[in-house]
Formats: sequence, C-alpha cells, structure tokens
Amino acid sequence: MTATQDPRRVVVTGARGKLGRAVVTHLREVRIEVLAVDRVAGGDPREVEGEFLQADLTDYGQVVEMLTGGVDEHDSVDAVVHLAAIPAPGMAPNAVTYANNSAATYNVFAAARAAGVRTIVWASSETVLGLPFDTPPPYAPVDEAYPPRPESTYSLNKALEEELARHFCRWQPDLVAVGLRFSNVMEVTDYAEFPSFDADPHQRRWNLWSYIDARDGALAVELALRHGVPGAEVFVIANADTVMTRSSAGLMAEVYPDVPITKELGEHETLLSIDKARRVLGYEPRHSWRDHVN
Ligand SMILES: NC(=O)c1ccc[n+]([C@@H]2O[C@H](COP(=O)([O-])OP(=O)(O)OC[C@H]3O[C@@H](n4cnc5c(N)ncnc54)[C@H](O)[C@@H]3O)[C@@H](O)[C@H]2O)c1
Repeated sequence: MTATQDPRRVVVTGARGKLGRAVVTHLREVRIEVLAVDRVAGGDPREVEGEFLQADLTDYGQVVEMLTGGVDEHDSVDAVVHLAAIPAPGMAPNAVTYANNSAATYNVFAAARAAGVRTIVWASSETVLGLPFDTPPPYAPVDEAYPPRPESTYSLNKALEEELARHFCRWQPDLVAVGLRFSNVMEVTDYAEFPSFDADPHQRRWNLWSYIDARDGALAVELALRHGVPGAEVFVIANADTVMTRSSAGLMAEVYPDVPITKELGEHETLLSIDKARRVLGYEPRHSWRDHVN
C-alpha cells in the first residue's frame, strides 16, 4: 500500500481543550492549516483567534458539513485530528461519557469516509493499558503488544474506538487511522506540583508515574498526520521520563515487585514504552518537567 501525501489542511476537534489548544498552536506553527472545532466557543465564535467552528460532534450532519466544506466560509479538509471527548472516567455519568464519546468518534469516522478524508488521527488513551493498575500490568514497560484492558466505561469506549478504526480500515483500504494512546496531559503550569508526588510512590502508580507534555502530544499528532501508511495503528504517547525523582527500577521494585521488567531501565525512563512511536513515527519528546522545576 502506498503512502498518502502530507495533509495541508486539517480539522482539529476538541480544539478548546487542554490538548487541543497545544495541537492547534503547533500545527499552525508548522504551517498546517487548521479548522479548529469545539462545542465550546469561549465567547463569540467569530472572535476566537484563528479559524474556528462551533459544532457538536454527536450530530452527524454537523460533522459531515464540517468535513466536506459544506459550512459557509470554511473549506473542506484532507485530514481530521479528533480529540473531542469527555476526557476521563467519572467526570460525567458513565452512560453520558459513553454516549458523547462513542457518537462523536463514530460520526467522525463515518463522515470522513463519506467525505473522502483518508487520514484520521485520534486520541485513544493510556487507560486501555489497564489503568489504574489495581491489577498489575503483565510486564513493564507496558506497550502496545497486549490487548486492551479497559477498567472503566471511558476506557472501554477508547478500546472500542481502536476496534472501530480497524474495521473502517478494512472497509476502506487506503484509510490511514492512527490512534494515539496519550498519557496524562500536562501543561507547564502543572509542573509545580510534581515534586509533591515523590513522598508517596503509590500516589501515581495508577499510570506507572507517566505523563505527556501537551506540546509533545502535539508533536506526536503532527508526526501521525505525516505517517501516511494505510491501516489502523495505535501508539503509546508519553514523555521520556516519569514524574518522579526516584528511579523507575526502584519504583517498580517497591510497588510492583512481581511484575517482570523486560529491559534495562534508564534512571527515570518512562514505564509507558514509547519505543514503537520512536521507531515508526520518529517521535522524540522535546520537553521534561525537570526543565521547569528547580
Ligand atoms: N487529559 C488527559 O490526561 C488525557 C489522557 C489521555 C487521553 N486523553 C484524550 O485526549 C483528548 C483531549 O483531552 P483533553 O485533556 O484536551 O480534554 P479537554 O476536556 O480539555 O478537551 C476536550 C474538548 O472536547 C470538547 N468536546 C467534548 N465533547 C464534544 C462534542 N460532542 N462536540 C464537540 N466538542 C466536544 C470539549 O468542549 C473540550 O473543549 C480526549 O479525547 C481525551 O479522552 C486525555
């Protein structure tokens, strides 16, 4: 299967969110044209900086218009970055989370197919790896090699989205569908709190002490847009280090002594493996909380 061309104009859904803001900024910096979309405008949609469209993705018609250039004043696009979601378990009743997130993602995939959009990059989640790891991980660093282990309705939906992507790619063999299993998204202002995590190694064992700087998450989105290889793929996207000053090997020995360690670990090496993203996408995180905290 031949590679597709780099997208020049993309829709970013969830553009007003924590990750979405960083993604829109980054893509515009690297000269990819962005139609930013969210159901929340933050004021008059015409006054939001850059091209913006207020739309609710649970309504299929709105998604079709958005992707086909049917909305007045907005051109069609050649890729979609789908980040819009209720972004964690417990923020809304389970059925609300499921209804919103599953409808939005189905509509994006189905409307992209109808519109002839052949590149979809979307936010999956670290949660499919088995968070909060009340059941210990099968090995560490965890990676994409074992099947999803969702432990919440939010995560169940992300796991189903990965399955949905595989079937859409089976139906449309030239579709590029890249799911990014983001770790816990952080902005620079979040880093002041990090030193407080050190006192109790159990406090953040729920995601194996991992995180993703929103700017590095945005870099991963750019690389996924340029991936260009048809088929469905998922990648764990985290920073290269943990949130802790204790060593990664020491953390595992203390909290998960029975979990096999599959490689020699660097001092603070992430326990959510980014080896596949490095190898296939050329992803190399540029940031660390350690650069922002004394
Ligand atoms: N925050 C994290 O730690 C984290 C970790 C892993 C994965 N993710 C995923 O990354 C994505 C972005 O997360 P975030 O932290 O930026 O969340 P966020 O809540 O800050 O942003 C999500 C945005 O999506 C919008 N949205 C939700 N439902 C919508 C709908 N039906 N139509 C239109 N817009 C809608 C919201 O208005 C919001 O602005 C989500 O898919 C989330 O599940 C987040």
